[in-house]
Amino acid sequence: MTTKNDLPIDDNGAPHQTTEEGYDTLTTQHGVAVSDDQNHLKAGERGPMLMDDFHFREKIFHFDHERIPERVVHARGFAAHGFFECLEDLSDLTRAAVFKKGEKTPTFTRFSTVAGNKGSPDVARDVRGFATKFYTKEGNWDLVGNNIPVFFIQDAIKFPDLIHAAKPAPDRGFPQAQTAHDNFWDFISLSPESMNMVMWIMSDRTIPRSFRFMEGFGVHTFRLINAEGKSTFVKFHWKPKQGLQSVVWNEALKINGADPDFHRRDLWDAIQTGDYPEWELGLQVFDEEFAEKFDFDVLDATKIIPEEEVPVRIVGRLVLDKVVDNFFAETEQVAFCTNNVVPGIGFSNDPLLQGRNFSYLDTQVKRLGGPNFTHIPINAPQCPMRNFQQDGHMAMHNPKGRANYEPNSWGTEEGGPREDPANGYRHYPEEVSGQKVATRSETFADHYSQARQFYLSQTDIEQTHIANALTFELSKCQEMRVRKRMLSHLRNIHEDLAEAVADGLGLELPEPAKAARETKTDLKVSDALSII
Ligand code: HEM
Repeated sequence: MTTKNDLPIDDNGAPHQTTEEGYDTLTTQHGVAVSDDQNHLKAGERGPMLMDDFHFREKIFHFDHERIPERVVHARGFAAHGFFECLEDLSDLTRAAVFKKGEKTPTFTRFSTVAGNKGSPDVARDVRGFATKFYTKEGNWDLVGNNIPVFFIQDAIKFPDLIHAAKPAPDRGFPQAQTAHDNFWDFISLSPESMNMVMWIMSDRTIPRSFRFMEGFGVHTFRLINAEGKSTFVKFHWKPKQGLQSVVWNEALKINGADPDFHRRDLWDAIQTGDYPEWELGLQVFDEEFAEKFDFDVLDATKIIPEEEVPVRIVGRLVLDKVVDNFFAETEQVAFCTNNVVPGIGFSNDPLLQGRNFSYLDTQVKRLGGPNFTHIPINAPQCPMRNFQQDGHMAMHNPKGRANYEPNSWGTEEGGPREDPANGYRHYPEEVSGQKVATRSETFADHYSQARQFYLSQTDIEQTHIANALTFELSKCQEMRVRKRMLSHLRNIHEDLAEAVADGLGLELPEPAKAARETKTDLKVSDALSII
């Protein structure tokens, strides 16, 4: 038998399972019926509390421990269940079962903002996370992307600095200067690699109308690997069937004031009324030889692969059709990780991706209280999971009735699972000999071309929105040298844009920033500092 909230209770005929009025009886966590939930136990009517009151202590103890650390980034999110349906046979490219034609895979998708805390407003100008867990027959695959196809930085070692500059300052607990603008723009102006991302974040994409009207991108170059072991590079794209829509800045400000939960309410309402949002999954596939022909590096996450050169091939659809039953258990405790891949999908050497592969697991061990967060149903695979791991906080699945080590000499029953060289996950055997230890490839050094391409791809009104957004943001930045440094970068992107922003700020145009590509070296912070 179960109660209304599904906690199992043995049907042992205990007299206290329902009250005289027919309600389920309130119990402690240990199942003991509670007689008084309004008063704690005192010595006499006006005396001190008695330690005997186990019900009070348990109730307050549990309340005291309700919060877990919020995610260090992407703290505010909203998620829904759904399915992915593969519409094309991709066996020539990948052996992954999720990409067999007609295969339907259950999914869980969490959308998020990046910089705000858990209680921040939904329509802030920010990048949106778009993370999907595919519960495939061969294990969980997580596609942990954003609604922007490029990123601020090329190397994961810069991530803590980027996030520190964007989030509240540690001394005061609110963003430094008026709205984090000085620190953020200081960091950005000293990191010319972020200029392409700056164009995207100052565009209307970072104030989406709702989660349903956003694109999603895996950002990095990944690998697809077929049954013969052949690898093809791939970029993943989500295209919303609802179309791509944003609000304008004035609307965003008003919505945030009137309804800070605007985006989560929109997704909840759409799903609850049966208007299930849907995205197409598109792939850009290209081989290593083709990748060599680009004048940028496909391992550089600040660059897109132009769709004119490698068209996006639609291969499947994602439908979100079920809201969560338990926000905390599912949306809060879900743990996405770029490291979660299945046979047929692999990594590239993108130095941002490689750092992410370390970071997610590391942070989740802390956030979710130990190494057993895969035992939480939202993180557990929906295919068999067997190994020799045991114990630790909250362990639910210790090996039972079989060996808990290997190699062992027991038979198939008592010996437990064995590795499977033929069908198990195999990392792509990329050749890395001949590489010298180095910091960053020279090919990462063009910071402006794609920023300019993006700016020029926008309509007149969208270009005006970018100029207005930059003017607004930089007007909040008190440091004149940071404003000027940004203007000097904008001159390398487009003179019209630089002029519009300089006009808005009432400033003269400074000299253009030194372009790293011209010097054939990556721009060092010391160079960037000397621009002005
Ligand atoms: C969380 C995307 C770069 C570290 C997230 C989430 C998304 C995301 C969507 C939220 C996952 C969720 O809903 O639970 C991205 C993208 C990146 C990027 C697209 C670049 C292309 C990085 C880098 C690092 C990093 C470079 C660190 C080296 C984290 C951490 C979390 C997170 C620590 C919190 C995870 C958790 O507590 O569960 N990221 N991220 N991310 N990301 Fe990233």
